[in-house]
Amino acid sequence: ERSPIIAPSILAADFSRLGEEVRAIEGAADWVHVDVMDNHFVPNLTIGLPVVTSLRKATTIPFDVHLMINDPQRWAPAYAEAGAYNVTFHAEACEDPVALAKALRAAGSKAGLAIDRDTPVEPYLELLPYLDTILIMTIKAGFGGQSFMPELLGKVRDVRRRADVNDLQIRIEVDGGIAADTIEQAAEAGADAFVAGTAVYGAADPAEAIRKLRALAAG
Ligand code: DX5
Ligand code: ZN
Repeated sequence: ERSPIIAPSILAADFSRLGEEVRAIEGAADWVHVDVMDNHFVPNLTIGLPVVTSLRKATTIPFDVHLMINDPQRWAPAYAEAGAYNVTFHAEACEDPVALAKALRAAGSKAGLAIDRDTPVEPYLELLPYLDTILIMTIKAGFGGQSFMPELLGKVRDVRRRADVNDLQIRIEVDGGIAADTIEQAAEAGADAFVAGTAVYGAADPAEAIRKLRALAAG
């Protein structure tokens, strides 16, 4: 079993001090999770390419970019070129996930596919060999600070079973409501990468919060 990845989401950070906020988790976080929203795929608007390009220079932590946008075919490779380590796009917004995953790898990043709350994972299980990560939403995408939905962990179990049977090294990531009281059940279901916004940046000591989450996820 691989050690857990903890990916704090800067959606819960202070956007006026983003550079300092990511440096505060250096040495503790594995990835920085960057939520890009376009007010079309989800009813919320966050940041885009210029901020990612600037922030990339402020830290050495790998970026895990989560694109909650329409038309990811058009935009996703630019995030890879901007230095993202992993770029995840939504299944609901993409007609040809395999082609986009290939384009992302060609542009220099890992490729991730995200599955929103109301989307079944079964049709996507055959795509796992083309992906580096699969992100199972444990809320409905769009906003931080929502409550974890344990009923969505069945999708994590389905992916874990398929990945193990086929001996795939894919990372299974969960996003939404991950905190000290929910991370263990997500890990038990088979997740090995954990996004946490509020639970990290809402804590008095973000680095300590990460260490605590990591210990719980490692079991
Ligand atoms: C929401 C985003 C999440 C969000 C999670 O659509 O994808 O990454 O930041 O926030 P918390 O951890 O507060 O649920
Ligand atoms: Zn996210």
